[in-house]
Amino acid sequence: DWVMRDHIAEAVEAIRKQVGDEEVILGLSGGVDSSVAAALIHRAIGDQLTCVFVDHGLLRLDEGDMVMDMFAGKLHAKVVRVDASDLFLGKLAGVSEPEAKRKIIGGLFVDVFKAEAAKIKQTHARHVAWLAQGTIYPDVIESGGAKSKKAVTIKSHHNVGGLPEQLGLKLLEPLRDLFKDEVRELGVALGLPPEMVYRHPFPGPGLGVRILGEVKKEYADLLRRADAIFIEELRNFRDEHTGKSWYDLTSQAFTVFLPVKSVGVMGDGRTYDYVVALRAVQTSDFMTADWAELPYALLKKVSGRIINEVRGINRVTYDVSSKPPATIEWE
Ligand code: XMP
Repeated sequence: DWVMRDHIAEAVEAIRKQVGDEEVILGLSGGVDSSVAAALIHRAIGDQLTCVFVDHGLLRLDEGDMVMDMFAGKLHAKVVRVDASDLFLGKLAGVSEPEAKRKIIGGLFVDVFKAEAAKIKQTHARHVAWLAQGTIYPDVIESGGAKSKKAVTIKSHHNVGGLPEQLGLKLLEPLRDLFKDEVRELGVALGLPPEMVYRHPFPGPGLGVRILGEVKKEYADLLRRADAIFIEELRNFRDEHTGKSWYDLTSQAFTVFLPVKSVGVMGDGRTYDYVVALRAVQTSDFMTADWAELPYALLKKVSGRIINEVRGINRVTYDVSSKPPATIEWE
């Protein structure tokens, strides 16, 4: 599409002009906005961009490898992968209150990113002068309005302000004027796979807020496998009328780990294992949301697969609460 091609050419030119021969660091999360920003900036300045991907150990199944395959493998971008999962899990041990968990994850994320950025600044020959962020237009509006203050006190996000100043870097935000659907179109035009660009949102604290109470590696491993089955079947099952997958028919869908044990039977024996809840919602703004009326056949397939394939989980429930009064996440 010509309009998009012009748009890319213009954005690329603007980035080259702004950055000159200096270098840029970008925090890659695997989410849509940082991915599209990375792809665009890489198109403009190639190896003058270094992406930092912090793996906090609370990502979905194989997510870290997928991010590396895409950006380092296919796009040939410079990506530093920081495996900080032991650090995060260590600091989260014994902590069960949701906001306390968010603060720990957000704070550590900033620390790890800062340390990595400092290393890059020291070792690179050229002047590292820019911090790139995938800020989009709705974020710009939100951070000026009253809405964001409320959002921040209700749930602290980890896109913390002040990072560029602390790092002594200038801010590069090439998506600042774009709405979400424009960012998605741009991503596809830049060659990112549609499955990546049209992904459901994923919270910064990741599985940290989808494991109720204390986060443990054992729980995260079980949850990752159960959630991967749910997402795979949502992508497989299509609505007969529209032909769309149930993944595309829902706004957000995920699995929640409940650290309680319930009794089951398997063969001649009794099991005493963990429970998960499936959550799927439809919403236009995430401020209110309806639970999705998923087909029974889909729910049946998912619960059967999780219980048979994920040893350690013997019961699957479906969350039929809408927002408000429930929230989308469980924490
Ligand atoms: P709730 O649970 O408040 O979620 O109905 C609304 C939307 O916000 C996402 N969410 C978060 N995103 N950091 C994030 O980056 C967070 O701490 C966080 N908490 C909730 C949630 O996934 C949903 O899309």
